[in-house]
Amino acid sequence: MPYLIKRGMFSTLQKDKFRNWATPFFFYNLNLLEDTLESINKEIEGFPYKVHYAIKANTNSAILKKIKEYQLGIDCVSGNEVKHAIKEGFEPKNIAFAGVGKTDEEIIYGIENEIFTFNVESIAELKVINEIAERLNKKAPIAIRFNPNVNAKTHKYITTGLEENKFGLNYWELDTLFQLLEGLKFIEIKGIHFHIGSQITDLSVYQSLCNRVNELQKIFLDRGYTLDHINVGGGLGVDYNQPDENPIPNFTEFFAIFKNFIELQEGQSLHFELGRAIVAQCGSLISKVLYVKEGIKTNFLIIDAGMTELIRPALYQSYHKIENITSESTQKVKYDVVGPICESSDCFGKEVELPLSERGDLIAIRTTGAYGEVMSSSYNLRDKAKAYYNEDI
Ligand code: LLP
Repeated sequence: MPYLIKRGMFSTLQKDKFRNWATPFFFYNLNLLEDTLESINKEIEGFPYKVHYAIKANTNSAILKKIKEYQLGIDCVSGNEVKHAIKEGFEPKNIAFAGVGKTDEEIIYGIENEIFTFNVESIAELKVINEIAERLNKKAPIAIRFNPNVNAKTHKYITTGLEENKFGLNYWELDTLFQLLEGLKFIEIKGIHFHIGSQITDLSVYQSLCNRVNELQKIFLDRGYTLDHINVGGGLGVDYNQPDENPIPNFTEFFAIFKNFIELQEGQSLHFELGRAIVAQCGSLISKVLYVKEGIKTNFLIIDAGMTELIRPALYQSYHKIENITSESTQKVKYDVVGPICESSDCFGKEVELPLSERGDLIAIRTTGAYGEVMSSSYNLRDKAKAYYNEDI
């Protein structure tokens, strides 16, 4: 457990280095990533479970290298993600490919490379995959994604398992599906897939998911389909409020729900697709204070990172802990912490209590390892922020 020995705060050595690097940049602690992966593997040891890392959360090579060392598979949502995972050394047989809008080229690529499964999201897609597989004279491995109509109780933009969402098949399509499957000779039904949303903190929703999975598995069995696997997706949330107190999500509690409630058949495996829970806490966005500007109620702390590096607060009104990591002042002041982008939504936090801050201080925006760098843009013709690792120090 290398990270836990020196938990939390940035070391003096790290801060000295930070001063020499052009800001803003992402800083990743790979020791924490290792501890997180170790904790997952400890929980699944001895169970027929396979965790696929949802590569959309962070695609950096150094991060993928660690994830590969711990033998995780990969979950992708685009052909380029599949290509990237293969390029980074992941075996196609461990790659699941979901997404509501797969193109013909992406499907061809997946079939030719013999990936683990296509997680199919509609009847229309199923027909197209069958046609393409026929042309290639190969069988395409399929898991049907179902929309279990379970409320993940998270932000509406990252809720995916309700009937109103665009993902997966709905239960009323089951009859059509079974009729169709009879004639689709180039499809091999391997499993069923679910993913109900992201940043899930009320774990009871996973118990509801397990109930729906068991019901659906029974329907498949009654129709004569034995499934090689069940894939319950990802979504486990992290503690954005207290990253140092809870740097590793409670995997014991998470996996216990599945151990207790999923009824696996003989020889069947259970797959997970975790993104945020694996990489969020190991990353911070490090930025510099450019100006302190007088405001009406609170002063603005204008920093050199913006929504171009981290769009989550602007897009999902999400909270990220903000720290001044270099001020030595004991005086506490409230600031609106904002970026330089020409949008009012370019704001990381309102009335954030920080030590008295001044131009040149370093600001850490925590828990940005997932959906930070990957969602960055060049809006306002901004440069891409670099990534550094604890191993660079
Ligand atoms: N599996 C599928 C099919 C997914 O669509 C996703 C995420 C995952 C797994 C991984 O979910 P996770 O374990 O990371 O929650 N940009 C948003 C999150 C979007 C998640 C999209 N799908 C954010 O910054 O909160």
